[in-house]
Amino acid sequence: MTHMALEVKESLEERCNRILRNMEASLTARDRVGIQDFVLLDAHTSETAFLDNLRKRFHENLIYTYIGTLLVSVNPYRELDMYSKKQMDTYMGVNFFELPPHIYALADNVFRTMLSECNNHFILISGESGAGKTEASKKVLQFYAVSCPSTKVLNNVRDRLVLSNPVLEAFGNAKTLKNDNSSRFGKYMDIQFDHQGGAVGGHILSYLLEKSRVVHQNHGERNFHIFYQLVEGGEEDLLRWLGLERNCQNYNYLVQGNCTKVSSINDKNDWKTVRKALSVIDFSEGDTENLFGIIASVLHLGNIKFEADHRGYASLNNNQEMQWVSKLLGIPAQVLQQGLTHRKIEAKTEEVFSPFSVDHAVYARDALAKAIYGRTFNWLVNRINESLANKDSSRKTVIGLLDIYGFEVFNVNSFEQFCINYCNEKLQQLFIELTLKSEQEEYKLEGIEWEPVPYFNNKIICDLVEAKHKGIISLLDEECLRPGEATDLTFLEKMEEKIGGHPHFVTHKLADQKTRKTLERGDFRLLHYAGEVTYCVVGFLDKNNDLLYRNGKEVMRQSKNTIIRLCFPSTEPDSKRRPETVVTQFKSSLVGLTDILLSKEPWYVRCIKPNEAKQPGRFDDVLVRHQVKYLGLMEHLRVRRAGFAYRRKYEIFLQRYKPLCPDTWPNWRGTAAEGVRCLIKYLGYRSDEYKMGRTKIFIRHPKTLFATEDAFQVCKHKLATRIQAKYKGYRVKGDFQKQREAATKIENCWRGLMARKEREKRAWAVKVIKKFIKGFMTRNQPACIDNSEYLAYVRQNYLTRLKENLPKTVLEKDAWLTPPPIMQEASQLLKKIYIRHMVWKYVHGVSVQKKGQLQLKVQASSMFKGKKENYPFSVCRPFLDTRIGEEDISIKVLQLIGPECIKYSVPVVKYDRNGFRPRLRQLIFTLEAAYLVEEAKIKQRIEFSSLKGVSVSNLSDNFLILHVTCDDINKKGDLVLQCDYLFEALTKLSVIANKQNCIRVVQGSVRFDIQPGREGFVDFKSGQESMVYRAKNGHLMVESTRTKSR
Ligand SMILES: Nc1ncnc2c1ncn2[C@@H]1O[C@H](COP(=O)(O)OP(=O)(O)OP(=O)(O)O)[C@@H](O)[C@H]1O
Ligand SMILES: [Mg+2]
Repeated sequence: MTHMALEVKESLEERCNRILRNMEASLTARDRVGIQDFVLLDAHTSETAFLDNLRKRFHENLIYTYIGTLLVSVNPYRELDMYSKKQMDTYMGVNFFELPPHIYALADNVFRTMLSECNNHFILISGESGAGKTEASKKVLQFYAVSCPSTKVLNNVRDRLVLSNPVLEAFGNAKTLKNDNSSRFGKYMDIQFDHQGGAVGGHILSYLLEKSRVVHQNHGERNFHIFYQLVEGGEEDLLRWLGLERNCQNYNYLVQGNCTKVSSINDKNDWKTVRKALSVIDFSEGDTENLFGIIASVLHLGNIKFEADHRGYASLNNNQEMQWVSKLLGIPAQVLQQGLTHRKIEAKTEEVFSPFSVDHAVYARDALAKAIYGRTFNWLVNRINESLANKDSSRKTVIGLLDIYGFEVFNVNSFEQFCINYCNEKLQQLFIELTLKSEQEEYKLEGIEWEPVPYFNNKIICDLVEAKHKGIISLLDEECLRPGEATDLTFLEKMEEKIGGHPHFVTHKLADQKTRKTLERGDFRLLHYAGEVTYCVVGFLDKNNDLLYRNGKEVMRQSKNTIIRLCFPSTEPDSKRRPETVVTQFKSSLVGLTDILLSKEPWYVRCIKPNEAKQPGRFDDVLVRHQVKYLGLMEHLRVRRAGFAYRRKYEIFLQRYKPLCPDTWPNWRGTAAEGVRCLIKYLGYRSDEYKMGRTKIFIRHPKTLFATEDAFQVCKHKLATRIQAKYKGYRVKGDFQKQREAATKIENCWRGLMARKEREKRAWAVKVIKKFIKGFMTRNQPACIDNSEYLAYVRQNYLTRLKENLPKTVLEKDAWLTPPPIMQEASQLLKKIYIRHMVWKYVHGVSVQKKGQLQLKVQASSMFKGKKENYPFSVCRPFLDTRIGEEDISIKVLQLIGPECIKYSVPVVKYDRNGFRPRLRQLIFTLEAAYLVEEAKIKQRIEFSSLKGVSVSNLSDNFLILHVTCDDINKKGDLVLQCDYLFEALTKLSVIANKQNCIRVVQGSVRFDIQPGREGFVDFKSGQESMVYRAKNGHLMVESTRTKSR
C-alpha cells in the first residue's frame, strides 16, 4: 500500500472514531435513549424489542428513528422544539448518521443525492390517518424552502410552493374522528430543482377527493374546512353578496356531524391565511369571487327543500335558496328549477322531462353539489399548477412528495375506505417491488450470495381487487353497468359467486361459524396485508356510479361563472356513453402514480400514530404494534440487516470517488469494476466490508461509505482549488493571447498605415524630383507647363538667397548675388532699387557736420585724385576740424593772432631753408593768413593774398612747399613743410583761403625761393624706404616708398 493509501486509511479510521466520539458527545443523555437506527438493534427480529425501542424514545419525545435510510416517525401530538431554522441549519449538508434522526436529515440527504447524481427521487410518506403524513410533508417542504439557494425569482416560486398547502388543505381537508385536519384526497407533489438546487417549479397531482363529505358527515366529523372558514371568517360584504349568514348552524351541509366548532381549529385565522395565499399564487379578484360563489352556492343547494305537489312530485316554489344559487352561478332560475326537479329522458326522437319524486330530487341535488365541489377542487389543483409551472425548458431534477391517505379502518367502512385501502395495497406492492423484491432480485442478478428474507407479498390481495374480469373492481363495474335491477346486495352476491373461494375474502354467507358472528349480512371482509377490514356494501353502486343526471350537467353548462363553465365543458361526452366509474378512474390514476414512482429513487417516511385519542405522551402498544406490522417495518429491517447498506453501479461509484486514488484520477482506462477494485484496495476496505457484484459494489456498513464520502469531501475541496487555479490560469492565458493577437493586429495595421504613407511620400517625391529634373532640363526654354514650377522654385530660391545675402553697406554694392538667367532682369532692377534704397538710407543718416566734412573730401578728391600717389590712403581717414586744440596753442600766440579767428591748426615739420634742418612747428590757418608758430613765437606770417601757390609731389611723401610772394629781402621766403595730414591741411587751406587752383602737383623737383633771388630745390623720388636728406647737389632729397595703387 502506498504512502498516500496509508494516509487515507489512517485518516478514515481517525475520522470514523471522531464521528463516533462526536456522536456520543453531541448526543445528550436523552438522545441516547434506545437506539437511533433499528439496524443496530440486537434482537432485530423481535417485534417486542422493536416496540420497546419506539416506546422508550417516544416517551423522551424522540419521535424519529431510522431503519437504515427509512425514517420512522411517531406522532407526538404536541409541538416539539425541533423544527427551528437553527435545527435546519444543523442538518444542512451533514451526513445522515452524524446527527440524531430527523426528517430534515432525510430531506437533506435526498436533496444532496439528487444534486450529486442528477436523478429524480420521491419521498413516500405513509401511515394511517392522523399519523402525521401531511405534517411530515410540510416539514420537508419548509426545509427546502429555507435550505435551497434563493434569488428573487426562486423565492417567488418557493412562496407559491409553500402557500399552495393551506389552500389545498382548506378545500381538501376536514375534521374526521381520527384527525382534526385529515386529508380527504391523495396528494403527490413534484418539486422541480435546477442544477444548482434552486427550487424552480412544482406540480401537484390529486387523487380521489372524498366528495361524499360535501353532502354528508358522520357524527363528530365536519365538512371541508373552507365552508366553515368562509362562514366564520368571510368579510361582512362578501357574506352579504353571497347571501350567507354568519352561522354554520343554518346550513344543512354543515351540521350533520354536529360539531361545527372544533377547539383545535381557528377558522377565522385560517380564512385569512387562505385569502393571503390565494393572492400569492396569483388568483385574480374574478377567480376568488367565482370560487367563493361556488362554495356559497353549495351551501345554498344544501338548504333547498323540496315540497311534494299533489301527485307526490318534487316542486320548488320560488325558493329563496334556489334564487341565490341561480344568482351566484349565473344560471337562469327557470332552468335551474327545471334541472333540480326533473330528469330528461330521451325517448326515441323526442326528449321528455320526467318529474322527480322528493327523494329523487334530494338525491339529484346532492349529486349536483358533490359534482360541483369535486370538479371545482380539480380546477383549483390545475390553477395552482399553472402558478407553480416552470416555463423554462432547461434540465431539471425533481423530488416528489407523496402524502397519501393511510390505511383506514372504521367501525363502518364504505366505498371510500375500500378505495383508500386498495391504494395502500398498491403502495405496499410498490414498496415490495422497489425494496424487498428488487433487493433480492438485485443480489441474485449481481451474483451476490443472498439469505432469502421471508416476506408477505400482497400481490394476491391486489389481484383480488383489481384483476380483470374477476377482481372486485371489475365485478362492481359490471354490476353498475348491468341493465336491470342491480343493487348493492346483488353486487355482494356476485362477489360471493365469483371470488367466494379467495383466501382473503369472506362474507357472512361464506364465513365459518365463528367469523360469521362478526359479520353483518350486507358486509364483506377483506384480509388486507395490514389486517382485516369489514366493508358495508351499502352505497357501493351509487358511489361508484357517481351519477349526475344528464340535465344536471346541461344546466351547469349554462352557468356564467367561469369556473363552473370550465368544470362542465360542453365537450364532455353525454350520458349515452357512460363515463368511467369512480373506482376505475381511481384505478387508472393509481397506475399512473405507480409509473411516476417507479421511475424515481424511493425514500420512505413511515408515520405511526401512538394513540387514537390524539393525546400527547400516550403510547398504545396494540395500536402501534398493528401499524408496525402493516407498514412492513419488521420486514424492511430484516432485509436491511441481511443485506448491504449501500450499493451503487460501478460507474457511478467510480465517477464519484475516483479522485481518492491516484490510479483512478483523473481517468481510469479499464472497466469501471476494475477501477472500483483498484480504488477500494487503495482505500483499504476490508474484505468483509464489501462485495463486488456484476455491475455494482455493495457496501455492508454505512460507516464504511461515510468514511469514504468524508475523504471525498476533503479531497473535493483540494481538487476544486486546483481546478479553479488551472481554470484561472487558462482564462488568463486566453486573455493574454487575445491581447497579444490584438496587439499584433494593431501593430500590423499601424505598420501598414505607415508603409502606405511612406509609399505615398516616395511617390510624391519621385514626382517632384522628376518634375524638378524636367524643369531643370527645360529651364532655358520659354515658360511652359514642364518648367513653370522649376522656374518658380528657382525664382523663389534666388530671392530667398538674395534676401539673406544682400550687401550690408553701399560700399559693398558689387557683392551682389549672381542671378540665374531668368532672374537677370529682375536682379538688375532689384539691385538698382536696393542700392538706391541704401544710398537714400545713408544720405538721410548723414549729419550737417558730416556733410561739411564730406564736401571737403570731395574738394580733396578733385584736387588730388589720380594725381598724388598716396592720396587713396587718405580717403578713408575722415577730416577733423583741427589737429591742435586751442589749449595746445600758446596763449601768447593766440593773443597775437587775436581777432583773426583760428580756423585750423596742424603740427608740421619745417625744413630750414638753409641746411634743411627739420623743426617741429604748428601751422595755423586763420581767415586771413597762415602762421608758422614755434611755441610762443610766430615764426612766419603768410597772408593768403601773398600766397602764390602750393607745391606737392605726385609721390607718396607728405611734403608741401608754400610759395609766397616775397619782395622784401628781409622777409622770409617759401616754406618747405612736411605734414602728416597733408591732404586735410591743403584742402582746408584751399577752402579757407579760397585758393583751389593754387595747388600744384609736380613731378621730380620743385624750385622754391629761399630769399628773393636765392633759390632752392626739393627733389622727389621713389625709393626703397622713406628718407629725407640733403643731396650732394644741395637739393633736399625726399625719397618715399612706392605704394601699390588700389
Ligand atoms: N411532527 C409533529 N409534531 C407535532 N404534531 C404533529 C406532528 N405530526 C402530526 N402532528 C399532529 O397530528 C395531527 C395529524 O397529522 P396529519 O394531518 O399530518 O396526519 P395525516 O397522516 O396527514 O392524516 P390523514 O391521513 O388524515 O391526512 C396534526 O394536525 C398535528 O396536530
Ligand atoms: Mg394528511
